[in-house]
Amino acid sequence: MKKTSTILALVACAAFMANCSSSKKSASTEMSEAAKVAEVNKNFTPTQMLEGKTLWENHCGKCHKLYEPGSHSVAKWERVLPRMITRSKLTNEQGQLVRAFLLSKAKVS
Ligand code: HEC
Repeated sequence: MKKTSTILALVACAAFMANCSSSKKSASTEMSEAAKVAEVNKNFTPTQMLEGKTLWENHCGKCHKLYEPGSHSVAKWERVLPRMITRSKLTNEQGQLVRAFLLSKAKVS
């Protein structure tokens, strides 16, 4: 009887852990580049996208050429943008608008 319950506990534990790791995996594959593009297109209005474009034009060509949205993949933008938003002294909110504009037109690699 004791043995059975130990085995049951182990099985339950293993099932729990398998469940946990598989849901983690699907969450990261869900956020593909295409999914991120779809997400910004869904969450930001055309007006917000335009604001992002204006901010990008006014702030992102100061230190180097203005990198076009399509010049980089979604993944590359995600890596570079946090640093550039800080450098541009944009607020978090402004940064989100610039990100939305750039990702909406970024390359999907
Ligand atoms: C204060 C100066 C400054 C501002 C403002 C700035 N950048 Fe940069 N940027 C740099 C420097 C320096 C590098 C190269 C070093 C690095 O990658 O951190 C760079 C690199 C980049 C790169 C990588 C280029 C490549 O192909 O490797 C991209 C893309 C970029 N910036 C985009 C932006 C965007 C978008 C903005 C506006 C949100 C912006 N930058 C604002 C200084 C700046």
